[in-house]
Amino acid sequence: MTDTPQPKSDSLDGPIRLLGIETSCDETAASVVEGGRKILSNIVASQADIHAQYGGIYPEVASRQHVITIYPIVEQALQQAHLTLEDLDGIAVTRGPGLSGSLVVGLNTAKGIALANELPIIGINHLEAHIYSAWLDSPDRSVERDPEFPLLALIVSGGHTELALMTDHLEYQRLGGTLDDAAGEAFDKVARLLGLAYPGGPAIELAAEGGNERAFSFPRAWLEDSWDFSFSGLKTAVLREVRRLEETDLPLPVNDLAASFQAAVVDVLVNKTLSAAREFSAKDILIAGGVSANQALRQNFHDNPEFTVHIPPLELCTDNAAMISGAGYYRYIDGQRDDLNIDALPNWPLSELT
Ligand code: KG4
Ligand code: ZN
Repeated sequence: MTDTPQPKSDSLDGPIRLLGIETSCDETAASVVEGGRKILSNIVASQADIHAQYGGIYPEVASRQHVITIYPIVEQALQQAHLTLEDLDGIAVTRGPGLSGSLVVGLNTAKGIALANELPIIGINHLEAHIYSAWLDSPDRSVERDPEFPLLALIVSGGHTELALMTDHLEYQRLGGTLDDAAGEAFDKVARLLGLAYPGGPAIELAAEGGNERAFSFPRAWLEDSWDFSFSGLKTAVLREVRRLEETDLPLPVNDLAASFQAAVVDVLVNKTLSAAREFSAKDILIAGGVSANQALRQNFHDNPEFTVHIPPLELCTDNAAMISGAGYYRYIDGQRDDLNIDALPNWPLSELT
């Protein structure tokens, strides 16, 4: 059964509209999405500039910044959608994984609004939400049609690198994930080594544009016979090369180092995903999460003629609340309604969803 699940209860009169709230990391975001695909508003306030001075996310600063920003962002999301809370069917909110202090801010905001307006809340897994960004309408969608099952999903973000087979809506079989650093984390750490700004992914991508990806042959951890990934050896190899080069009087070839590092990450991500898609006879491939904004990764996937590859438009790759409302729709029509006493789940794996 690959059709969209049908509503089990509640409003059959008119499209289902959910407010989405996302505060799992350093983006404070709110959005209204209709029917899991039509984005009526999508507001994201990034704290990246604030955390850049620390060279990474400072968790306590992140939660306090969410406290300041969340209500104005929710108001903006409603205003931009030309709706009031009375027009909504529920609130989808990120429950995990993520930073606990940050998740709690979004959860409590959702609970307060839900209680005051008699709306149901739906706690959403952030990784599942990244996947559902591929169903959101956008003029910049990489593929016109929706993804088809069985679907091979690669989620590459700052905290996760996960490979999963999706057999139907809301059904996942986890194949593997990173054994150490997540792909985005590797970008962030290597950027720091190269003296580039936080967040490291966009900075490395920019530096790599002017570099030669064959200048350094960095290791690829293929981890044969497993669908797992490992990026810490690659990071250490870059560190060793930087130390060696620093002992010379020559300027650090940042562009070549960035390009060679990026090529190694892309090579492993693309080839392991394609192998898994063949092995499990997937119809389509889906890439999501912040690292899927990377142009080299996008291009390499699009260059393969074997599979249709769904990659969200850039603004939906990195953290946003439209994806939370999008996943919320599928959970809502599946009947999920959560109690007002739900807690944050900072380490909530995708494998626990089915
Ligand atoms: O999904 P996301 O916004 O937040 C998490 O759920 O973690 O992903 C953020 C990660 C960061 O590590 C950032 O450096 C990386 O995505 N990222 C990129 C690019 N844009 C963001 N990595 C590589 N290339 C990019 N263009
Ligand atoms: Zn994310």
